[in-house]
Amino acid sequence: MNIAVIRGDGIGPEIVGEALNILNIIAEKFNLKFNYQDVYMGGCAIDKFGEPLPDVSVKACLNSDAVLLGAVGGPKWDLQQPENRPEKGLLKLRNALGVYANIRPAKMFNALKSACPLRDDIANKGIDFIVIRELTGGIYFGEHFINEDKDFARDVMTYSKLEIERIAKIAFETARIRNKKVTSVDKANVLATSRIWREIVNNIAKDYSDIELNHMYVDNASMQIVKDPSQFDVILTENMFGDILSDEASQITGSIGLIPSASLGADNTPWLYEPIHGSAPDIAGQNKANPIGTILAAAMMLRYSFKLEDAARAIEQAVNKILDEGWRTGDIFDAKHDDKNKLLGCKEIAEAIGERI
Ligand code: IPM
Ligand code: MG
Repeated sequence: MNIAVIRGDGIGPEIVGEALNILNIIAEKFNLKFNYQDVYMGGCAIDKFGEPLPDVSVKACLNSDAVLLGAVGGPKWDLQQPENRPEKGLLKLRNALGVYANIRPAKMFNALKSACPLRDDIANKGIDFIVIRELTGGIYFGEHFINEDKDFARDVMTYSKLEIERIAKIAFETARIRNKKVTSVDKANVLATSRIWREIVNNIAKDYSDIELNHMYVDNASMQIVKDPSQFDVILTENMFGDILSDEASQITGSIGLIPSASLGADNTPWLYEPIHGSAPDIAGQNKANPIGTILAAAMMLRYSFKLEDAARAIEQAVNKILDEGWRTGDIFDAKHDDKNKLLGCKEIAEAIGERI
């Protein structure tokens, strides 16, 4: 199994390094072999190649079986032209790999209930849903235009039937192995793309009569996520709504450093795995970062790309275990609400997870 490894910028190299240590432990325990190839993307690629995702990087990713990514970006590259910003590398990579389905779990860990910013009576009902975000269409990939005088601009949002159908299917399939409920989020009272979105999702739903489907406007959805997150199982939505709602969803779990994501595409192409948080340049290189989001992204890679469910579970169980035991990195350390909390560095918490595996 060949894994393209994008360490990226900021805390990226540290958290990815720890995730690879965990994969090596998994390889030993389950008698597997992972080959890693380092790939440059983001600020470090701008420094080395003058662009955020050079063709050699795209090629290396396309030739791999899966791509593991830390995080890209940082203040050093903030003044780059839009075409040459680190984020552009990420968008180009998603597009090159054709990873149209972004799976972002919003799960509150039991041990971390006190970190949930919502009222106790809401938090106690639990948070465990998945945002399925369309990732290669919509306004992100439409025309972005600014006129010469810079007094007029236009961003174009398009969706085709094929794009909507394939992401809807992923949502229904995901709900089928969960709690059998899909909430499709759109703005069908205003947007044309949303109106066909709704119709096409309704059509796909006919093949999934065991799944409950409801539709929700995006403004209402953003409110419902904080009012009663326990009502959600699978949220299906387009690219930009998904960007926004998935940040909101992860924040209410109180553990943004713990949440992984997977971006899936066609069966014969490599898929992309990354934590949902950014490159946190302020704590880079200080052994303070939380590697758990990346470690859980590696678990998702084992599950989705390599069909190694047992190995994925072994990682997830070890993470649950160390959290239950009270081990924390700085971002989730909370001695005020929990006197059993014990602070560890990036390296040490990964070691603890490795030992439990
Ligand atoms: C994300 C990020 C990216 C996005 C940025 C960095 C382009 O916010 O993965 O959610 O908007 O998709
Ligand atoms: Mg985002």
